[in-house]
Amino acid sequence: MNIGLDLSRSGLGEEDILNLRGKLQAADKSLHEGKEGFNGWMTLPTEYNREEFERILEAADRIKKSCDVLIVIGIGGSYLGAKACIEMMSHSFSAVIKEKKRRTPLILFAGQNISPSYHSELMEAVKDNNVCLCVISKSGTTAEPNIAFAVLKEMLYEKYGREEARSRIYAVTDRSKGMLREEADREGYESFVIPEDVGGRYSVLTPAGLLPIAAAGIDIREIMKGAASGVEEYRGADPRTNICCRYAAARYLLDRAGKKIEIYECYEPKMYFFGEWLKQLFGESEGKEGKGLFPALLQFTTDLHSMGQFIQEGSQIFFETVINIENPEKDVMIPDTAAEAFRGKTMHQVNRAAVKGVAEAHADDKIPVIFIDISEISPYLFGKMVYFFERSCALKGYMMGINPFDQPGVEKYKAFMKEKLNE
Ligand code: PA5
Repeated sequence: MNIGLDLSRSGLGEEDILNLRGKLQAADKSLHEGKEGFNGWMTLPTEYNREEFERILEAADRIKKSCDVLIVIGIGGSYLGAKACIEMMSHSFSAVIKEKKRRTPLILFAGQNISPSYHSELMEAVKDNNVCLCVISKSGTTAEPNIAFAVLKEMLYEKYGREEARSRIYAVTDRSKGMLREEADREGYESFVIPEDVGGRYSVLTPAGLLPIAAAGIDIREIMKGAASGVEEYRGADPRTNICCRYAAARYLLDRAGKKIEIYECYEPKMYFFGEWLKQLFGESEGKEGKGLFPALLQFTTDLHSMGQFIQEGSQIFFETVINIENPEKDVMIPDTAAEAFRGKTMHQVNRAAVKGVAEAHADDKIPVIFIDISEISPYLFGKMVYFFERSCALKGYMMGINPFDQPGVEKYKAFMKEKLNE
């Protein structure tokens, strides 16, 4: 059970990677010094709050017993980590599986947009269900979750009355600051803390990710064990052996060579939202001061039939990073009625051939391709992948000379939106 990195099709020389040792050491030092703050995620896998962790497990059990639908309200870092893990680890069609057969509540999301259609259809869909809410916002003031929570809370009041509604609301926010913290304390919601030194996009291993993930029936102890193994394995800054450093170095070199877009590619639909989580992690961490790689996401083989042409022959401004799941949980035998080339094979064998064939076709045209090999989908490896990507992202940020933990650009649209509301 592990994560591997294969740079053999990246077009990069081993010498070039090793030459970055000094830069990697300096980046590792900055990371440990924590000048910018917000490096609490580095020790989370080993030093998390045990008492709160047990309370998460108890709350998750209560949620499982008291509702068949849990609506998780949040956006950005307070949404994508939980969504990525739940999609990755759940049955692809859990929404279709009848309630009696489902052992855990259906997890739905709200407050990740301001669409009136989305939210009114959500309320229409769950009107006959037993519902709990989990509202997540570190600042407690973000517009999208604030609005969705207000709307869904009204629905709960109408359905259960104010008193019972309170017992069906779980809040995850700052320890002492913000509107949501005030409300949680005033109304007596069961609440959990996002540590101050952990930024939104690095917060999946805090209650922001762990509570909804546990409520979905996923083993969060295994997630923390996997992340802790990452802390151990990716320690230090040696580009010969440390794959976290090697990945950071490869991205740095490709960025410097003018490959300004990193396309994450996955051949397993369950990984789609993990790709969305990666987009936020890398986009928000690196995209500043006119620098940074633009993270994009493609779902193969689906998108080979729409974007394959561009990749093979279009503007060569990108490189590819394949998130390669080596062993799927299930396989399907292809019947003899299929075309001759596929008969007697399994879908996994054909998918493998696609992964290799596409990589070779692209490498043949000198497109750099990085492989991140994940032996299987499991809670343990989810935790390890989270730590792997967070650490390599932070290292690359420091190598570029930017602060990988702030997001000054996100504020601007909010100011303009406020102005429009006042017009
Ligand atoms: O990474 C970040 O800091 C952001 O994406 C936030 O997670 C997002 O804006 C939501 O913020 P909050 O949790 O304060 O509602």
